[in-house]
Amino acid sequence: MDLGIRGRKAIVCASSQGLGKGCAQALAEAGASVVVNGRNRDALEAAAHEIRRSSGVEVTAVCADVSTQQGQDALLEACPAPDILVNNNGGPAFRDFRELDRQALLDGLTTNMVTPIELIQRVIDGMAARRFGRIVNITSVSVKMPLAGLDLSSGARAGLTAFVAGIARSVADKNVTINNLLPGSFETARLSSAFRAAAKRSGLTEAEIAERSRKAIPARRFGTPAEFGHTCAFLCSVHAGYLTSQNILLDGGDYPSAF
Ligand SMILES: NC(=O)c1ccc[n+]([C@@H]2O[C@H](COP(=O)([O-])OP(=O)(O)OC[C@H]3O[C@@H](n4cnc5c(N)ncnc54)[C@H](OP(=O)(O)O)[C@@H]3O)[C@@H](O)[C@H]2O)c1
Repeated sequence: MDLGIRGRKAIVCASSQGLGKGCAQALAEAGASVVVNGRNRDALEAAAHEIRRSSGVEVTAVCADVSTQQGQDALLEACPAPDILVNNNGGPAFRDFRELDRQALLDGLTTNMVTPIELIQRVIDGMAARRFGRIVNITSVSVKMPLAGLDLSSGARAGLTAFVAGIARSVADKNVTINNLLPGSFETARLSSAFRAAAKRSGLTEAEIAERSRKAIPARRFGTPAEFGHTCAFLCSVHAGYLTSQNILLDGGDYPSAF
């Protein structure tokens, strides 16, 4: 399917590996030029090179912390008038909520709620004026199904979800959409680190934890960054212009609900 976004410009935050990289790769395959981002320069340059070589589109690497003002300035300097914004960032470490002091709480909110809102503030009016905009926030299944130890992630991302629900309605008539993609368990470095932490707590091996998790998913497998990226690219396509303010769960059937 031609997604109709050839020549469009995309900023994909936190995209040197994992889900963000999957989104950048799929958007590039659809013909959009992409700005990729991460803090580790070597990993970022390697990802940019790989996406550039496989897609042939313009790929710009912005090595910066997206949670900072300077990082956001650098992203918008590289792409001042984006048609597509994929908001992504690292997630908080697994921690009992009793251990979260005020600074940790504020940092978590900054990472997973304030940062995407700040970027939306900076791009949305330009998108509305140009009558095309696609914003996708990578959140988490934890918005719907709290995971003990990731309470800060659940809270900050649920806050983001509520915040953008109103905004999405205010720009729907300008062909600007805002949607959230909720990953369940995807094969990324973050998932491996979660298994390592769970192994430490439980006394099981990392492989045992992974196998137990895999078996508990109705699809009996973890998702791949590529399939996550292709769903994101569809949400950014011309075909998804009537789809806004939705929470799209990608979890292999894990969340047990009819709706
Ligand atoms: N994988 C899953 O199963 C899953 C499930 C639910 C939710 N999520 C959430 O989805 C998001 C992506 O997860 P993932 O699995 O793709 O993680 P990942 O494999 O660890 O990749 C994270 C990416 O974000 C970049 N990054 C992190 N902090 C950054 C910052 N401050 N500024 C710029 N770039 C930054 C990392 O590069 P640098 O470290 O070099 O900056 C890396 O490219 C996370 O918020 C995670 O909590 C993931």
